[in-house]
Amino acid sequence: MKGVILAGGLGTRLFPLTKITNKHLLPVFDRPMIYYPIEALVKAGVEDIMIVTGGRKSGDFLSLLGNGSDFGLKHLNYTYQKGEGGIAEALGLAEHWAAGESICVILGDNIIERNIVNMVSEFRAQEKGAKILLKQVHDPERFGVAEIDGDKVVSIIEKPTEPVSDLAVIGIYMYDSRVFDVIKTLEPSSRGELEITDVNNWYIRDGSMTYEVLEGWWTDAGTFESLHHASSLVAKGGANRVDQAEHA
Ligand code: DAU
Repeated sequence: MKGVILAGGLGTRLFPLTKITNKHLLPVFDRPMIYYPIEALVKAGVEDIMIVTGGRKSGDFLSLLGNGSDFGLKHLNYTYQKGEGGIAEALGLAEHWAAGESICVILGDNIIERNIVNMVSEFRAQEKGAKILLKQVHDPERFGVAEIDGDKVVSIIEKPTEPVSDLAVIGIYMYDSRVFDVIKTLEPSSRGELEITDVNNWYIRDGSMTYEVLEGWWTDAGTFESLHHASSLVAKGGANRVDQAEHA
């Protein structure tokens, strides 16, 4: 399985912090935001990683991360998203590189306390389809929200005004190789983006979507409140950390 980290977009919800730089280069406590999704993949045993970046200071990712030796990697792959056509558009740019393998996708502003080793190995055992991770939240209207019936996801609604549950779809997704053909069928949403929620609803209709509820805390870091919250959660301890001393 390959890993894709999506770190494009203009981060307008964090203006003026993102006026001259890319959101994922901002600090979350003691590390740049982009470190956390890389660490989450490496800890799950996914070491063939592509970073999709874009917007301002995209060249700084190379200066910061190089070939990923701080994370014990031999190589990192990069590609560039022009504009901000949405999460699914950014993912589509990884098609050629993914070369028919299944993928684990992480949004560059998502941070988790524990690891996703079990979810990744369950998905490896799943013959086809997709897997999403859910987390109970107090503000579901900010996220994609899942309606669940037993062990099935019935539907996902992106930022609903009246959420049907308090289960947010977090920014970690696993897909089989069909995902790139699904993306090609999408139309832009009312916010002008190709939505990852539309990709997930396709797999639900296909009957091949599974889910897990994530243990430990999870946060995004794309608003002032969540960026501050992310820093304080990491400061209190926890969060994925590949021991960088090991790779110095
Ligand atoms: O954090 C989880 C949520 O992320 C999910 O619950 C939602 O279903 C999903 O749509 C997404 O919601 P946001 O509106 O918070 O996504 P945002 O636009 O902040 O983008 C999240 C990351 O995706 C961002 O840090 C970088 C990447 N991205 C986003 C866009 C719009 C790209 O790489 N390119 C893009 O064009």
